[in-house]
Amino acid sequence: MKRIFVNETVNKIGEKVKVSGWVNVRRDHGKIIFIDLRDRTGLLQVVFAGDIVKKADMLRSEWVVSIEGKIKERPENLKNSKIETGAIEMEAEELEILNEAKTPPFEIGDKDKISEELRMEYRYLDLRDSKMQKNLIKRSEVLGFLNNYFKSQKFVEIETPALTKGTPEGAREFVVPSRKHPGKFYVLPQSPQQFKQLLMVAGFERYFQIARCFRDEDSRGDRQPEFTQLDVEMSFVEENDVMNLIEEAMIKLAKNIFPEKNISSEPFPKLDYDEAMEKYNSDKPDLRKNKDDPNELAFAWIVNMPLFEYSKTEKKLVSSHHPFTAPSEALAKEGKPEDLKAKAYDLVLNGYEIGGGSIRIHQRELQNKIFEILGLKEAEIEARFGHMLKAFEYGAPPHGGIALGLDRLLMILTNESSIREVIAFPKTGDDRDLLMGAPSEISENQLKDIHIKCTK
Ligand code: AMO
Repeated sequence: MKRIFVNETVNKIGEKVKVSGWVNVRRDHGKIIFIDLRDRTGLLQVVFAGDIVKKADMLRSEWVVSIEGKIKERPENLKNSKIETGAIEMEAEELEILNEAKTPPFEIGDKDKISEELRMEYRYLDLRDSKMQKNLIKRSEVLGFLNNYFKSQKFVEIETPALTKGTPEGAREFVVPSRKHPGKFYVLPQSPQQFKQLLMVAGFERYFQIARCFRDEDSRGDRQPEFTQLDVEMSFVEENDVMNLIEEAMIKLAKNIFPEKNISSEPFPKLDYDEAMEKYNSDKPDLRKNKDDPNELAFAWIVNMPLFEYSKTEKKLVSSHHPFTAPSEALAKEGKPEDLKAKAYDLVLNGYEIGGGSIRIHQRELQNKIFEILGLKEAEIEARFGHMLKAFEYGAPPHGGIALGLDRLLMILTNESSIREVIAFPKTGDDRDLLMGAPSEISENQLKDIHIKCTK
């Protein structure tokens, strides 16, 4: 018999079906045993009576079973309106034990009481929690929705490399030593920024990608060393074209996948960076009208951002967004670079920065000038960005784009307080993967292969 999902049993009253899953709980009433069988779709009460009780008596929590039996309506006074299958139950006829299970190190479904370390070490058990399952299923729906949306708007999905060269987004980079080229390294991308611009030079006009990005920065609730962006780039556009497209995507996403949510202001308000700093003392203000309403979504655009800022830690001028961002006005000889504005925009939601983008520079001379203002010497410009400058000489169209932090967006949409709750296998606060045991040492031979000597 073909196995069906637990939530499909509700239409099968009077029929014999087969379900498979985990024993959520077992309740022993002597001659009768009840179990709640759990699969991805929910719980089903299964009743064992008669000869089969002996076998059912062996069952323990988290054992894996297949059960065949008849679906019956529960007596009125025993119906449970809290679960989808609360009006029915299964009368077990056959029980197959597929696997036994040790007692889990914590109670599944109790994630708020369990230490982070334990949850991460046993992530496969932690993920059995119905809230975690819901979060990841929502994530899958969001990815599917965005994929359809961007394809319907004539965007092409293109993958870009993970083994590449550094691209400046303001964080430290993860490096990968090359075996074939002693002393040389690949860098994991902080974002696909340069590749997506090169795809515009190539003439794809509209690109998107669900892209994995890597940044070696301190983790916190809304930050992971490895995270996912919805990355977008378009040719022949101005700021408003990009913002309108993303705004429509966000509104449709909320309506379709999170219908319980309400967006507090449509179109999304646009705030000048200076105005936001002055009024809210923040470049990502929380504009919710009622912060106790779990369903309010207050989106806002922050525009007219500075092109450069002075970094106190680096003691030099740095790009506020990244050095490929176009200035709002021509670069004059006089005046401080810090006074220049950028054709850049951030998308803010409920006090978090969920995205950022800009119109790009597409001409060699201006790009070179920006690198010079940032204090890069000619040789360094050539070594790090020569390929971009060269590409701009071969008919680069005007272009711009944006990237949204999908983990952050999902965290807010699912009302979680950390992006770890919407990532299947996240790293801990100090960037460890406790399940796999990463980072880890590697053998002397592997080290020799990649020409690395550890001095620790
Ligand atoms: P930016 O650096 O602003 O722009 O990144 C875009 C968005 O990615 C999310 N984000 C993160 N999420 C989780 N963990 C992190 N460590 C992390 N870092 C960033 C944020 C952020 O708004 N290439 C440009 C985009 C562009 O110009 O098109 C870029 O990466 O939500």
